[in-house]
Amino acid sequence: MKNKDKVTIRLNANENPYGCSADVLKAIKKNIKNVHLYPAIPIRLEQKLADKFGVDQKNIVIGAGSVRLIDGIIQTFVEPDEEIIIFERSFIAYEQLAAAHRRKYIFAEQTNFVCDLENVLPLITKKTKVIFISNPNNPTGTIITHIQLEKALKKIPKKVLVVIDEAYCEYVTDKSFPDSLSLQKKYPNLVILRTFSKIYGLAGLRIGYAIIEESLANIMKTGRIPFFFNSLSEDAALAALADEGFVEKCAEKNSKEREYLYQHLKQIGMNVIPSQGNFIYIVFKNDIEKEAVYKKLSDAGIVIANMKIFGQDKSLRIGIGNKKSIKKIMYCLTSKD
Ligand SMILES: Cc1ncc(COP(=O)(O)O)c(C=O)c1O
Repeated sequence: MKNKDKVTIRLNANENPYGCSADVLKAIKKNIKNVHLYPAIPIRLEQKLADKFGVDQKNIVIGAGSVRLIDGIIQTFVEPDEEIIIFERSFIAYEQLAAAHRRKYIFAEQTNFVCDLENVLPLITKKTKVIFISNPNNPTGTIITHIQLEKALKKIPKKVLVVIDEAYCEYVTDKSFPDSLSLQKKYPNLVILRTFSKIYGLAGLRIGYAIIEESLANIMKTGRIPFFFNSLSEDAALAALADEGFVEKCAEKNSKEREYLYQHLKQIGMNVIPSQGNFIYIVFKNDIEKEAVYKKLSDAGIVIANMKIFGQDKSLRIGIGNKKSIKKIMYCLTSKD
């Protein structure tokens, strides 16, 4: 096969392999002629999200991707002498953005690849301002449960913001996953982050949102840059929310393919961590074994995440692609050449 004919399969950024809803594309086409106009504040989207979650519009803060909201939370709420707690082996943006704002961050250890909140509690001091938890956790795919989250919230001081980043929540099939909206009613220091980048398939448009107590929302909104949102995104997001069937189908296919990939990787002797996300984390005995698997897949045009770039040794993260790409992965890993 000539190099130019080689198809690249992108499974390194936890994107949706099924694209986005056709209705989203229609909405974008309809609005494309207006790109010369400045965008308005996306109040229709705020209201739609508020209705969906049974909260007030004042509790919704929209941002250009949830990373922009993570950035905003650090920038707005963490003073120079305060500290942030994050987990080892978690979403890299928390530490990158804390470092960008020159804020001190402390790592909590995981227990069996789970963001164990029991390990956070002894790290909390008077200086602690924000705790970031990715749930499901990127890259390990593990979750903390409702009971575990509530147990920790009872003990965490109210002035500490507990940010639960649920970028992958629509993929979760485990019933013990937190009902974070109900917990937020009891614990207003719980901040929920969600995104349109994953199951909705709109990563390139940059749309994320926070569900957050009103006074905190107001502070975040005041600190926003003007024209923080692009003019194609609001209608695209509204169309995405309206097409619930697309989301359901993607979730269904993801859980089927996730189970298939997990079982097959296990069968060939890999140490795979059970995942609730749209990706799977594999831990190797050493970096040599890991690099061999990485190379084999990348030589076949399958791009996966080598966790070395995130400072994590001996591990790879594979996005759950469609059936065809998963078959191709298994073929590559089991063929002798
Ligand atoms: C846990 C987590 N949160 C947030 C994001 C980024 O989301 P967004 O595209 O909305 O900035 C990612 C992306 O990989 C992620 O893994």
